[in-house]
Amino acid sequence: MSNQREQWGSKLGFILAASGSAVGIGNIWKFPHMAGQNGGAAFTLVYLACIFVVGLSLVIAEFVIGRRTQLSPVGAFEKLAPGTNWKWVGFLGVASAFVILSFYGVVGGWIMKYIIISVTGGFKELAGDPAAASSVFNNFINGTWSPIFFQVIFMTVCIWVIVNGVKGGIEKWSKIMMPLIIILLGALAVRGMTLPGGMEGISFLFKPRFEDLTASSVVLALGHSFFTLSLGMGTMITYGSYLGRKQNLLNSALWVIALDTAIAMLAGIAIFTMVFALGANPEAGNGIFVVLPSVFPQLPGGTVWGTLFFVLLFMAALTSAISILEVVTAYFIDQKGWTRKKATIQFGLVITIVGAFCSFSMGGGINITEFLGMSFFDFMDYLSSKYMLPIGGMLTAIFVLKKWGVDHFIEELKIGMDKSIVSKEIIIVLLGIAATVVGFIIINEVLDIAFGIKLIQ
Ligand code: PHE
Repeated sequence: MSNQREQWGSKLGFILAASGSAVGIGNIWKFPHMAGQNGGAAFTLVYLACIFVVGLSLVIAEFVIGRRTQLSPVGAFEKLAPGTNWKWVGFLGVASAFVILSFYGVVGGWIMKYIIISVTGGFKELAGDPAAASSVFNNFINGTWSPIFFQVIFMTVCIWVIVNGVKGGIEKWSKIMMPLIIILLGALAVRGMTLPGGMEGISFLFKPRFEDLTASSVVLALGHSFFTLSLGMGTMITYGSYLGRKQNLLNSALWVIALDTAIAMLAGIAIFTMVFALGANPEAGNGIFVVLPSVFPQLPGGTVWGTLFFVLLFMAALTSAISILEVVTAYFIDQKGWTRKKATIQFGLVITIVGAFCSFSMGGGINITEFLGMSFFDFMDYLSSKYMLPIGGMLTAIFVLKKWGVDHFIEELKIGMDKSIVSKEIIIVLLGIAATVVGFIIINEVLDIAFGIKLIQ
């Protein structure tokens, strides 16, 4: 079987696919939104620290596990630790994929709707009026069928890409879309910076005011670093499993992290420069769907800028969504012997149905998590970013340190590297920090929820 496994066509293709997974709604919507609400630059700094300390070592760990085993997460853990419970870390990843894609697909649908609103000049009447933009947004997401219609289209595109395979689908589209995302976002950032008053947005994002930083924003930054790098659910294990032995994994991981971070920063620059230049409120919730539609029409050529923004956001969301669905598809191919087409269509459909309930919970009538005091949509986001991904990531780090062994890990990591700059000590320290920090944060959260005890304030 293993010699028939699909492979990436090129090194660049793999890096673009993996960074396509990383770069998504998390970078362009969540990051600026979180930074806006948590003191801007102070949050940015903590976020960067989390990415480079915790994120980097785990991206490498996932790539190494995937390439060594040539299997998706469940099979990978089973192969390295046969007959143990470690395969449950893999199952946790597959479960996370269901949870994340269900709400992610809904947002993908919103983005498609916003492309249409923008192209048809619908932002014009919202110029300078975030309240009007907010009611357009809320009316749309609170509807019953319209958001689901767009979610179904988004999920169908996603299924179609995956059915076309690793090289003919995922890699091909990532190679087309990633460069476009970078170019379009770069253009938007330059446009924003050249607006009078735009530079204030830059200092909001990069000049720290530490008094704004709270423990909960640190927790948020850590959870988000998993989400934005697609870590903790085996996406990078799955993508790594389609690699041959030539690739330098450290170098690839650095590329993925650099691209992901650069795009989050560019998105922040583009958004905050425009928001400040046009006097909008940087802390407003749901910024890209509410603030931006009122900001774009105030720019010359606003319809074009607005449309380009939502098109690039669509591409970013799509390259991430396919990586999430691929984890599920690969599980059924590797472990159950299903065909790619059958696995993708069946589970794409199941996830779309669960996603419909996320959408309904925004006001469309049914909210199955009413008893928790939050919408099903928010619950799925909360569950995955705060618990499932960090726990998955922490267990992956513990797995390498305690079960598989750092020596085996390094042996695989060194394949494809010209000179070895990795030392056992560095790996142990980095993975150790990742496991400890995440473990501490999770314990803090659980104690807080269960007993109201906060170890950190
Ligand atoms: N990294 C993606 C984003 O930032 C989301 C994602 C999470 C993708 C987990 C795959 C796995 O939008």
